[in-house]
Amino acid sequence: MVVACVGSAISTMLALVAAAHQTGGRVICILRDHKELQISRQVPGSDACHIEFVIGEAQNLLLTNYSEADFVLIDCNLENHQGILGAVQASRNGGQVVIKSISFI
Ligand SMILES: *[C@@H]1O[C@H](CO)[C@@H](O)[C@H](O)[C@H]1NC(C)=O
Repeated sequence: MVVACVGSAISTMLALVAAAHQTGGRVICILRDHKELQISRQVPGSDACHIEFVIGEAQNLLLTNYSEADFVLIDCNLENHQGILGAVQASRNGGQVVIKSISFI
């Protein structure tokens, strides 16, 4: 299982980390810049060593490098979350991916 999360979806992501590791999966978090990376690393109790943080353009990465992700989490606070959502959904063409758009505190 590959979980790709976009944005600072840290708390939700942590819940998924446990599940992903039980199934031998990977959790990848795509962040926009190094500032977000710093924030992510500061989350108390963060199991950050089990998460692959990637900095880049979420939409492109989801359609290329992580096109096999089973689960995609998108932070609705991202300005372009609708665009990312639409692009991923279109590329899956009704495939099995679960896409969640959630908002964070
Ligand atoms: C995505 O894939 C390209 C081509 O395979 C590679 O050059 C690039 O480093 C990858 N990016 C990430 C963030 O893994």
